[in-house]
Amino acid sequence: MHITLARTPDRCVEVEQSSTMTTLDAPTSPPSAPQRSSGTPARRTLTIGPHTVDTPVVLAPMAGITNMAFRLLCREFGALHSEDDGGLFVSEMVTTRALVEDHAESWRLVTMGERERPRSVQLYGVDPATVRRAVEMIRERDLADHIDLNFGCPVPKVTRRGGGGILPWKTELFTRIVRGAVEAAGDVPVTVKTRIGIDEDHVTYRDAGLIAQEVGAAAIALHGRTVTQHYSGQANWDAIADLKSLVTGIPVLGNGDIWSAEDALRMVEQTGCDGVVVGRGCQGRPWLFADLAAGFAGSDARVRPTLGEVARILRRHAELLVEFFEDEGRGIRDLRKHVAWYFKGYPVGGEMRHRLATMESLEDLDAKLAELDADSPYPGEAVEGPRGRAGTPKRAVCPQGWMDSREITADIAARLHEAELSVSGG
Ligand SMILES: Cc1cc2nc3c(=O)[nH]c(=O)nc-3n(C[C@H](O)[C@H](O)[C@H](O)COP(=O)(O)O)c2cc1C
Repeated sequence: MHITLARTPDRCVEVEQSSTMTTLDAPTSPPSAPQRSSGTPARRTLTIGPHTVDTPVVLAPMAGITNMAFRLLCREFGALHSEDDGGLFVSEMVTTRALVEDHAESWRLVTMGERERPRSVQLYGVDPATVRRAVEMIRERDLADHIDLNFGCPVPKVTRRGGGGILPWKTELFTRIVRGAVEAAGDVPVTVKTRIGIDEDHVTYRDAGLIAQEVGAAAIALHGRTVTQHYSGQANWDAIADLKSLVTGIPVLGNGDIWSAEDALRMVEQTGCDGVVVGRGCQGRPWLFADLAAGFAGSDARVRPTLGEVARILRRHAELLVEFFEDEGRGIRDLRKHVAWYFKGYPVGGEMRHRLATMESLEDLDAKLAELDADSPYPGEAVEGPRGRAGTPKRAVCPQGWMDSREITADIAARLHEAELSVSGG
């Protein structure tokens, strides 16, 4: 059976029957009416405050990746097998200080497209008053339906000053930030995203989960790694199961190493979590959201694109980036970083990859894509499994004496704002 990709005014992916359009192989049931395998439990939904989505999946915020263009592309695939858009699609993180100081680029990043509902914005902040003010401003301007707070960033330039994934160690500061955001957000739900802790000896997720629940957060997401681990090794899903058994009043979302719909279903089964957050697995594979929606609907339908279909999806991504940046050159240059992910596992030679990585315009891109062997089939395993950032464990860089107590000293408090300067990434 084939799922056809067609372009409509507001979607690039639509299910249609037409021999002239690009087709994606989906081995089993029609996507508009996914067949439940016998014995599959009823569909799970995910509720965050007033919003219920019929696929318990969240696109992880990823700095430099999950801008409006990529979010829309993922939504379009999510909608293939879902009544709504197949989950929540969160912005890349924006620092609260930049919003409060009125940086135009940061306001642009939190401004969602008309097709983006609910609008999920991620904020990163270290100072309770600044976070509160940024949330108030977002609310006054009616820019978000859901606000996620990032407490997971492992980048040394952030943690060195006490921000990111090491911040929940300071429980009072963490409490004030989350409580302030919840109060300022009013009826807009606020969620928390965090890691296991600084390292094995400084675990914070249990306190963070209980505090988040206590002060009114609408959900907590746990990336099953410590700051020290960065993106190395394997995510610890047992910690997600542990958090789920501890925090019973709000949804617990699991994050880390979901590369396929099967992984997502397994995480839910193994941990009991209420939904999954998917990051690197969709880099260069936005169609993973179709697989995830199908999987959670009990269908075996999976998107297995030929090289020609990947080229078409990449082209769609390019168009959306050009629209988002309102600048063809900038959009195409931003696309370059995605090229290797899209073609991972496909027979696209080094020379072609290099040429694609230096393209300057849509015309240039089209000419290069036309040279690919469009009929080259889905390569199977070579496309699946881990992709994106990995690396090795690195000592967490913390302010001096950070781990000595769970309280904030005056000295550290005075320098905390520096943890929010020119930050990106989680
Ligand atoms: C390139 C990149 C950028 C990221 N940026 C953010 C971010 O802005 N905010 C955040 O909370 N996490 C960020 N993360 C972490 C992801 O949201 C996610 O927690 C992590 O990648 C683990 O999930 P995964 O195994 O599905 O990739 C980033 C990760 C990557 C790879």
